[in-house]
Amino acid sequence: MFKSINSNQGELITIYFEGKTLNVPKDYNVATALLWAGVCDFRETTLNNMKRGPYCMMGVCFDCLININGMDNQQSCTIQVSDGMKIKRQVINSSGKK
Ligand code: FES
Repeated sequence: MFKSINSNQGELITIYFEGKTLNVPKDYNVATALLWAGVCDFRETTLNNMKRGPYCMMGVCFDCLININGMDNQQSCTIQVSDGMKIKRQVINSSGKK
């Protein structure tokens, strides 16, 4: 699906997605790192539980919202990955509860 045009990924760091260990380039933002690792669905819509993932990659569409280190509603396309970061899909039902 997504393929980097740069064959040199540079230094890798470790992040955790849904408890799974991922080694990703340290210079990537969270959305890019997850896409690079093969993760495409980041959250579900509140009305019909449709899966959503990054679209604009520039902080406009809000389709990349995700839980980072226990905090919901983080725009993953605007946040750089950091070593040890814990990331989860954001699943909130229509009543606003997880
Ligand atoms: S991908 Fe659109 S706001 Fe992040």
